[in-house]
Amino acid sequence: PCPSRATHFLAINSLSRQTIKELLMRAYRIKAKTKERSAMHRPFEGLQLGMVFTKPSLRTRASFEAGFQRLGGGVSYFVPADIQLGKREAVKDVARVMSRFYDAIVARVHDHKDLEELACYSGVPVINALSNYNHPLQIMSDLLTITEHFRCRDNMLEGKKVVYVGDCNNMVTSWLMLASRIPFTLGIACPKSLDPPDAAALQLARTAGLSKVVVAHHPADVLGGADVVYADVWTSMGFKEQEKERLRHFQGWTIDSAMLARTGKNTTVFMHCLPAERGREVSDEVMEGPQSIVFPQAENRQHMQMAILWHLLRGRKRLP
Ligand code: CP
Ligand code: NVA
Repeated sequence: PCPSRATHFLAINSLSRQTIKELLMRAYRIKAKTKERSAMHRPFEGLQLGMVFTKPSLRTRASFEAGFQRLGGGVSYFVPADIQLGKREAVKDVARVMSRFYDAIVARVHDHKDLEELACYSGVPVINALSNYNHPLQIMSDLLTITEHFRCRDNMLEGKKVVYVGDCNNMVTSWLMLASRIPFTLGIACPKSLDPPDAAALQLARTAGLSKVVVAHHPADVLGGADVVYADVWTSMGFKEQEKERLRHFQGWTIDSAMLARTGKNTTVFMHCLPAERGREVSDEVMEGPQSIVFPQAENRQHMQMAILWHLLRGRKRLP
């Protein structure tokens, strides 16, 4: 049994549709306030965030640090060598020590079980900043970006088609989890010779019956009608020894202008969680082209994550 009584943020499938909607609306409000650059808007004043990362990061670190500090809070960031989670110190001990200093713990890990153990023993909310299993902060932020771009926040993704092209990794699992909570069309193209999407997440999305989910082995089979074409690296962090081998499986899978045109719509946008490897999963032309919204997408990490923190911390302090 888990001693923790805190509410954590580990996966999208534990959120209700109502909570997803509330987080989205809160993110819009926080973004508007942040853009005002008001020195008065400091909802996190007096709160401290502890961040433990066992993999590299630009966006996740920057968005939490800049966002939380801008809104009045303090942040400590631990690089992999500092804590050596589970090596120098047991995960459950790290959880209990950090809970004594911080109001929330943000953790990026290899094995998702480490996050679950942190959450189990932490007295404060634990937030998943990416594991090999999923990356919920990214996909929740992408929901903000897509609804902003298509001006459809009231309907969220209803009526939209998102097509993911590439490796069936942590990002796909989070997309499937979102598809199990709110309705939209999700197309996934992954090479047949690599791992299929996470079976449990796929079943969850299908049995929920809200979204149409199509899995194919070639991008051409799912791209038609896509509003969003989404890419990620072909080799995720922690899997670099497979890189050469993987390049073979992805021959011809680069999202270039010709591939993007397969959607048949000139309103399609290109998204990528970043970092991107130009010339591999996406061409430089598409990254830099008019359909790419990857940089507003990166910025929105901050606003959605502050909304998630607001939601988790509102009981800890009466947040304005
Ligand atoms: N997309 C994303 O999580 O980026 P980082 O790995 O740089 O944090
Ligand atoms: N799938 C990638 C996402 C990086 C943000 C990885 O896990 O490395």
